[in-house]
Amino acid sequence: MSRYQTSETLFQEACRHIPGGVNSPVRAFKSVGMSPIYIDRGVKGHLIDVDGNEYIDFVSSWGPHILGHAHPDILEAINTTAAKGTSFGACIPLEIEMAETVKEFFPSMDLVRMVNSGTEATMSAVRLARGYTERPLIIKFDGCYHGHSDAFLVQAGSGVQTFTSVQNNGVTKSAVSETLIANFNDLDSVRALFQKYPDRIAAVILEPIMGNMGVIPPEEGFLTGLRELTRAEGALLIFDEVITGFRVMRGGAQELYGIRPDLTCLGKIIGGGLPVGAFGGRREIMSKLSPDGAVYQAGTLSGNPLALGAGLAMLRLLSDPATYRTLGERSRQFADGVRRIVEPYRDRLQYNAVGSLSTIFFTSRMVRDADSSRSCDTETYARYFRQMIDRGIYIAPSQFEATFVSAAHTAEDIDRTLTAIEESLAAVL
Ligand SMILES: Cc1ncc(COP(=O)(O)O)c(C=O)c1O
Repeated sequence: MSRYQTSETLFQEACRHIPGGVNSPVRAFKSVGMSPIYIDRGVKGHLIDVDGNEYIDFVSSWGPHILGHAHPDILEAINTTAAKGTSFGACIPLEIEMAETVKEFFPSMDLVRMVNSGTEATMSAVRLARGYTERPLIIKFDGCYHGHSDAFLVQAGSGVQTFTSVQNNGVTKSAVSETLIANFNDLDSVRALFQKYPDRIAAVILEPIMGNMGVIPPEEGFLTGLRELTRAEGALLIFDEVITGFRVMRGGAQELYGIRPDLTCLGKIIGGGLPVGAFGGRREIMSKLSPDGAVYQAGTLSGNPLALGAGLAMLRLLSDPATYRTLGERSRQFADGVRRIVEPYRDRLQYNAVGSLSTIFFTSRMVRDADSSRSCDTETYARYFRQMIDRGIYIAPSQFEATFVSAAHTAEDIDRTLTAIEESLAAVL
């Protein structure tokens, strides 16, 4: 690799060594007609690329950086933990502190197991649900993304929606044959599946606020209905709070909407930017996990000291009510501003927001499920994205993702961003 490189030349070089030049598809910028920006560093709510451009960052590493980049407490925790060794594959005291802390945030969890990614958390939770109920089928919702394990790669949102025109390449029919699909915000579609497969459905898994077809909130009664239905049918309710956990409230969507799921999956924020995931829930279910129970689940690096150190530092900071106050203020400033800006474009744009999560949808249809989200004009989104990048605002390079406000954004950052949104929309609509 030569010494001085631009984003452009780095990407060309990356394509020679890495499939598509990227280690995760949504980084590719393909759907917005650009090559990716190479990041040099993050400073609070900003990113600086290798070309020397600065951006206000609303991707937030896809969610983890609720306090912005390179928070000194998190860096210090990583350094002090690393100085003692990076991995032992053995028990360490931090694991207990992490489990206790997660339980304080999420009282629905009696027992917590750490893993290395959101994908592992959801995959393991579903295996556990099947083992516990001794039933084979799961219900997921069209457009919900639960990571890239085979059983979930059907009607999945996020990168799958953005990049795969023929879904499920590489995923066998048998791998998804026990995954049933229902429609978000449509309780009848779930009821119909329970009627069709009595005593066969182990669990219903969902993002309680959809984040991977853009942000789509649950409508009144939807989550309560799912809770009642799963209980009546003897199936488990699994909340995938990999995005919403620690974000829409301290205790995630389950605190916001007052629903107690049987199992919860976490990721992103809980690791302070290091690779991590976790799942947990009712004691009698979690006790079925190996080594106490027969459901096998394991990981060489699970409960890794660095991820635990960084994650605990993050959770300590989130325990300070001032953090959520700031996040709430910035999020309101952002959402109120965007609502005002999109108002004149009501026939072409929709705006959904829950706390610090939001999406501007380029469609005339109200977005309440995957189908309405798919009606978006992705070409216009791509042009909007490029306008925003030109104005120093880094948003997701895909229509089907969330915008993440962080507590590190300043009021001035938000004002600047609103001006950029206004100008960018005027340029493309
Ligand atoms: C809701 C949800 N669940 C699971 C995952 C998978 O997490 P990971 O990418 O850490 O495997 C994601 C990733 O974006 C997600 O948004």
